[in-house]
Amino acid sequence: MEDKKKAPGIYEDVLNPALNERVKKTAEELRALAAQDREAFWAEMSKNISWYKEWNKIFDDSKAPYYKWFLDGKLNACYNCIDRHLSSWRRNKAAIIFEGELGDSRVLTYQDLYREVNKLANVLKGLGVKRGDVVAIYSQMIPEAVIAMLACTRIGALHSVVFGGFSATALQERINDSKSKVLITADGGYRRGKTVPMKENADKALADNGCPSIEKVIVVKRTGQDVPMEPGRDLWYSELMEEAELHCEPEVMDAEDPLFLLYSSGTTGKPKGILHTVGGYLVGVHTTFKYIFDYQEEDVYWCTADIGWITGHSYLVYGPLLNGATSVIFEGAPDFPAQDRYWRIVEKYGVNIFYTAPTVIRMLMRWGEQWPASRDLSSLRLLASVGEPINPEAWMWFYKHIGRERCPIMDTWWQSETGMILVTPLPGDTYLRPGAASWSFPGVEADVFNEKGEPVKPGEEGFLVVTKPWPAMLRTLYNDEERYLSTYWQQFKGAYLSGDGAKRDEDNLIWVTGRIDDVINVSGHRIGTAEIESSLIEHKAVAEAAVIGKKHELKGQAISAFVTLRDGFDGSDELIAELKQLVVSKIGALARPEDIYFTSELPKTRSGKIMRRLLRDIAEGKVLGDTTTLMDPAVINSIKKQYG
Ligand code: WTA
Repeated sequence: MEDKKKAPGIYEDVLNPALNERVKKTAEELRALAAQDREAFWAEMSKNISWYKEWNKIFDDSKAPYYKWFLDGKLNACYNCIDRHLSSWRRNKAAIIFEGELGDSRVLTYQDLYREVNKLANVLKGLGVKRGDVVAIYSQMIPEAVIAMLACTRIGALHSVVFGGFSATALQERINDSKSKVLITADGGYRRGKTVPMKENADKALADNGCPSIEKVIVVKRTGQDVPMEPGRDLWYSELMEEAELHCEPEVMDAEDPLFLLYSSGTTGKPKGILHTVGGYLVGVHTTFKYIFDYQEEDVYWCTADIGWITGHSYLVYGPLLNGATSVIFEGAPDFPAQDRYWRIVEKYGVNIFYTAPTVIRMLMRWGEQWPASRDLSSLRLLASVGEPINPEAWMWFYKHIGRERCPIMDTWWQSETGMILVTPLPGDTYLRPGAASWSFPGVEADVFNEKGEPVKPGEEGFLVVTKPWPAMLRTLYNDEERYLSTYWQQFKGAYLSGDGAKRDEDNLIWVTGRIDDVINVSGHRIGTAEIESSLIEHKAVAEAAVIGKKHELKGQAISAFVTLRDGFDGSDELIAELKQLVVSKIGALARPEDIYFTSELPKTRSGKIMRRLLRDIAEGKVLGDTTTLMDPAVINSIKKQYG
């Protein structure tokens, strides 16, 4: 950022409190190199990864939008995350510090991680998992989940991590779409003093041959709760590991071989498997972790994300391990046993770099500054945020009460699809602007387009796009090429459509304003309106449903559902409760509608499309814009009456 003190009409800039010559020089050098030659920049960055065989062409766009990076390069992700650190003193460095909900703690050095991962890789091989097979991982936050991810990549299998908060039905769908061969889960997990029934959910998903592709289920003992084990199918992790061989040669993978699948919600239909490949993903994630978090060898890094989401993949597992970092893995919730859980952890381990989400920050704000104030947070030196737009108030609170006005905040914008952070300030920026994700990362070309596909002028809003391919980009949607093309590449020729809106401010900084498609962002979790609607209409009383995300002070957005009933059914509180429960059982608690309204009709265009935007405006109490395209404008008044 230029040395400009204040942008007119916008939140006042904050002088970067941690600015020093080193980070300043790094930012300048990175930006200069990327500006001069983008491909040369990524070529340079690729040298920080270990290759069995170097790539011979950096980039190929001959089959756009199926882009390729680092062609003919050979490497292994697990080798890069673990083995290459073993030849130095780092082998005895903590790779993972696990903090359990019970206050139990476990440290795994790189050597420990090597041993555990190799053994599990051999176990998987022994169960018949081969290169290219998919292994589903359904777990809470325990070290074994990370070990499982790495064991897959060691043998060239793809992991498909399913967030531990998803229901049995959601797990089943993801297993079946990916045809996962093995499922790795746990007996249970701890959350807010209760146990979460992981194995029980998994059993429900698998019952009655619900997941025909699954041959074996590996169960980690975490809670020790009694769980039925199906003979021939279910195996205890600990027993398998006891007998496993200590060394497993990593598979030599092509840069463009698949690395993992991660299911994520889109605007239509069911969640889709986002496919990432080995070479580009590793280079992108290594580079962004190193420079955005300014990771230094002795730092303790903590990302509060769950491995069930992309942030957990890129910046809890791969980014830190590729850089030989020490990171904290945390099980549980920020308010259990008390609302200072996070600050106790920062104090306990001397956390230096802390990466979390705006929804968490807003919650912490509500709980009050007495909680962080009573803990020693002096180890912190850099803060970062991801998952949704951070409002300037939350930014300032984070800055003051957690960073104590000493730590810069990196507001990082990216997506499951992008694999790596694309828009963010750098620690070497002189000024930070609260609420603005700010700039494209060096070597990335994010932009804001108007409807005609032209870059907007300063002060204008539009679609957030990426105009040049980047290494860690998704390669396709698993089993759905059509949707890959139509979702991301159809609207603007040659540019990737993110689904987010953004504006350029007077100084050309990017402010992400949030989703402008039918994806809802609840507490930083992505949910498609279509998924919730199709759960609702499974109820016999429901004729039609429209779901929207309406502004919510803490969660960013909350789910509201508008439902029309079949003849002979009446809306009641019992029915509302039943419908909410139905959604929880189909998707998970994260998708539970905050409110459900019964309406005699839904507003539709003349071609029959439900106008969700109008419903959102009603729900948020906004003045309604043009309603002339409605089939029956009277519908609006009747809904408004009911709503009010
Ligand atoms: C939102 C999470 C504003 C955005 C990494 C995006 C953000 C969606 C930011 C992707 C940010 C993420 N500012 N919005 N810094 N970071 N988002 O796939 O709407 O779970 O499209 O990836 O989160 O969610 P996903």
